[in-house]
Amino acid sequence: MSILKDLGQKAMQLAIQAAPETWLPGGRPDPLAAKHGLIGAPVSRLDGALKVAGQARFAAEVALPGLLHAALLCSTIARGRIASLDTTAAEAAPGVALVMTHRNAPRMNPPALFGTSPNAAGPTDLPIMQDDTVHWNGQPVAVVLAQTREQADHAARLIAVTYDQADAITSFEAAKAHAHAPPSLMGEPSLLEIGNAEAALAAAPVQVDATYVTPRHNHNAIELHAATVMWEGDTLTIHDASQLVVATAETVADVFGLKHDQVRVLSPYVGGGFGGKCLWDHQILAAAASRLAGRPVRMVLTREDVYRLVGGRTNTEQRVALGARPDGTLAALIHTGVAAVTAHNDCPEQFSFPARHLYAADSFKVGQQVAEMDMLANTFMRAPGESVGTFALESALDELAEKLGMCPVALRRTLEPERDPTTGHAFSSRHLVEAYALGAERFGWAERSAIPGSRREGEWLLGMGCATGTYPYYRMPGAAARITLHADGSAVVAAAAHEMGMGTATVHAQVAAERLGLPLDAVRFDYGDTRLPPSPVAGGSSQTASVGAAVLAAHGALMAELAKLIGNDSALAGLSADALEARDGGLAAREDPARFETYASILGRAGRTELSAQADAPPPLETQKWSMHSTSAIFCAVKVSAITGEVRVTRLLGAFDCGRILNAKTAASQFRGGMIMGLGLALTEETLFDERTGRIMNASLADYHVPVQLDVPAIEVLWTDRPDPHAPMGARGIGEIGITGVGAAVANAVYNATGKRIRTLPITLDKLL
Ligand code: MOS
Repeated sequence: MSILKDLGQKAMQLAIQAAPETWLPGGRPDPLAAKHGLIGAPVSRLDGALKVAGQARFAAEVALPGLLHAALLCSTIARGRIASLDTTAAEAAPGVALVMTHRNAPRMNPPALFGTSPNAAGPTDLPIMQDDTVHWNGQPVAVVLAQTREQADHAARLIAVTYDQADAITSFEAAKAHAHAPPSLMGEPSLLEIGNAEAALAAAPVQVDATYVTPRHNHNAIELHAATVMWEGDTLTIHDASQLVVATAETVADVFGLKHDQVRVLSPYVGGGFGGKCLWDHQILAAAASRLAGRPVRMVLTREDVYRLVGGRTNTEQRVALGARPDGTLAALIHTGVAAVTAHNDCPEQFSFPARHLYAADSFKVGQQVAEMDMLANTFMRAPGESVGTFALESALDELAEKLGMCPVALRRTLEPERDPTTGHAFSSRHLVEAYALGAERFGWAERSAIPGSRREGEWLLGMGCATGTYPYYRMPGAAARITLHADGSAVVAAAAHEMGMGTATVHAQVAAERLGLPLDAVRFDYGDTRLPPSPVAGGSSQTASVGAAVLAAHGALMAELAKLIGNDSALAGLSADALEARDGGLAAREDPARFETYASILGRAGRTELSAQADAPPPLETQKWSMHSTSAIFCAVKVSAITGEVRVTRLLGAFDCGRILNAKTAASQFRGGMIMGLGLALTEETLFDERTGRIMNASLADYHVPVQLDVPAIEVLWTDRPDPHAPMGARGIGEIGITGVGAAVANAVYNATGKRIRTLPITLDKLL
C-alpha cells in the first residue's frame, strides 16, 4: 500500500517537474506580488483595540448558562495501571457535580493521529480515559466538575489513587539504545545519501565532526489552553484556543461517533499557538464530561497542566560532519542523529531538513532516527526540526570557518548553491547572500575579531557570531474562501482560519482589500469558526499562503460572476473577467483605465444586494516544482562574564529573505517573537525529567525559564522584500523562520567571546566555567 503510494508520489513529482510552469499553481506570478499600497503597509492589528480593551473574548471567558468548571487529576507514574481509585470523598465535596474517570467516561473512539488523514488531529492515537492504563507521567486519570473552579480543584485533591508501576524508559540516554529509522520523515525518506559522504569526509583535508545535543522544551503561550463546551442534543460546540479548528472538529466528531457537521469549533482569539494550540486530551475530556453531566463545561488547564498534557519540542542528539577543501567548498556534508518520540505519536523533529537545502556539497548523508520514551507525546513547537537542526549545522559551519581561517559570512557565500543541492530543483526565489550582505553591513560585522577571547571590557568577554536560518515554504491543501460583495461597496471575506496573535485578521483584510480595490475599512475578514469555508492548520508557517491562495481563487470566481452581471449598459460592456482589474471600489478595463464602474453600480443595476463567490485553493503543487524556502542571516553580539560565566546578549539582528512582506509591522513582530524564542532555546529553556518517575520537574514559569524583558536586547530586523514569483502574494511564511539560526548565532558569539564551544543547549553558565 505505502509502496504504491510512494510510486504514485514519485510519478506525480516527475510529471510536475516536466509540466509547463503556467499549468501549475504559482506558475504565473500573483499580480499582488508587485503591488504597493496596502500590501506591505505597517497596518496595526485590527483586533488590537479589542484585546487592549478586554473585549476580545477568549475560550476561557465564554459565559454559558449552567456552566460547570473542570479540574484534572493527573497520573504520577510514567507507565503502568491504576490499581485503585476512590472518588467518594471528591464526589461528596461542596459544589461537585460529577467525577469522571475511565470507569464512567462515555465510550469514545481513539482520535485519528495527526497526519494519518487530511483532517486527523490526534496528538496520539491513544484512547482517552477508556481504561486503567497509564502511558505517561501526567496523563489525566480523573476530571472533576464543580460549580466553581476552586471547588473542582479542591475535590480533585480528595481523589485517592494508587498505581501498579511498570518499567518505563524515562531518559533519552536509555531510549537511544533502541533508536531506529522512522518509516519516513514527514513524507521524505528518513535517510538521504548522495555519493559516499563518509569516504569523502575521511579524505577531506579539513574536517569537522561533532555532536550537538538539544533538550526537551515545553510550550508556554501566554494564554493557557482552554475549552468551553456545550452539547445541544447530539450537536457539540467547542469554544477553543486553536490553530486547527476544522481538523479538531472532525476528529472530535469521530471520537464521539458523530457526523462532522455536528461539531462546531469556534476560536476567534488565541493567545499564542506556536504549534501547541492543537487538539489535546482536554477538549475531548471536557466534551465527555459535559455530555455525562448534561451541562456546559469550562476546562482551563493550569500552567502545570499545560506541562503535563501539552507536548513540546523533543530531545535530539545530532552529528554534523563537514569535509572541506582549503577554499571552503564541501566534499561532504553529513547531518545525522536521533530524536526522542513516543510509541503513539509521529513527530520526529526533522532536524536534518536544513542540511538538505542550504549548502552545496559533493556528497550528502542526511537523515535521522527516532527513539521511543514513555513520556508525554512530543509535538510541533515553532520550527520543529529547523530550530534545533540549525543549531547543530550552523555551529558546525562556524567550527569549519575557524579551521579554514575564513570569515563565517564568506564561507556561507562560498557554499551558496545554484539549485537545491539535494533535489536539484530550481529555487523559487533565494536571496540569502543578499540577506547576509544587508545584515553584516547593518550589524557592523567588520568589527568582529577573528581571534576568540581577544576582546574584553572589564570582566566581560565580548564576541560576535552569525548563523543561517531557514524554514520551508508550505501551503496546506484543503483551503477555501468566500468573498461577498455588498451593494454599499463593502466586502466580507470568510475562511475558518486562525488568529493566534500574529496578524492573520489584519493581513488577510489588507490582501483582500488590495485585491478588490477597496479601502481597508470597507473589508471585513470573518474567521475562527468551522461554519466558515474550511482552512487547514495554521502551522508550518503556511496559513497566509494557504488562505491567501483560497482568497485568490475566490476572487477569480467573483470576477467571473461580476463579468456576467455587467451587461450592455456598463462602461465595461463586453469585457471578460481577464480584461478587468479592481481599483477604487470597482472594476476598470485593464487596457483602458478610463472605462470604470463601481461595484455598487454594477450590483445596483443588476438589482442585487450582494454577490458572493466561494472557491477552493488549488493543490499546493508549486512545492513539488520549485525548492521554496525562507532564509535568514542572524547576527548576534554577546558579553560573557569571565567571573560567573553569565551570558548577556547585547545585540541581535535578523536579515530575512521571505518573499514579499505583507505587513511591515506584524512581520517585524513575528520575526522578533521568533528570535526571542531563539534566545530561550539558546540560553534558558530546558524541560527537566525526573528519570526515576518520568515526571517533569520544572513544570512552571518559575522553574522553566523563558526569556524575560531583561534577557532581550533591542532586536533589529530587516528584509530583502523580494517577491517570490511562485507564492500567493509573493509571500513565503514568516512565523517560524525567526527562531531558526538564533541558537547557533548565540553559540557562535559565545565561542568568539570565550574560545569555548558549547555543543549542548542551553548555554548555561555552568558550561562556561
Ligand atoms: Mo508551527 S510549530 O507549525 O505552529
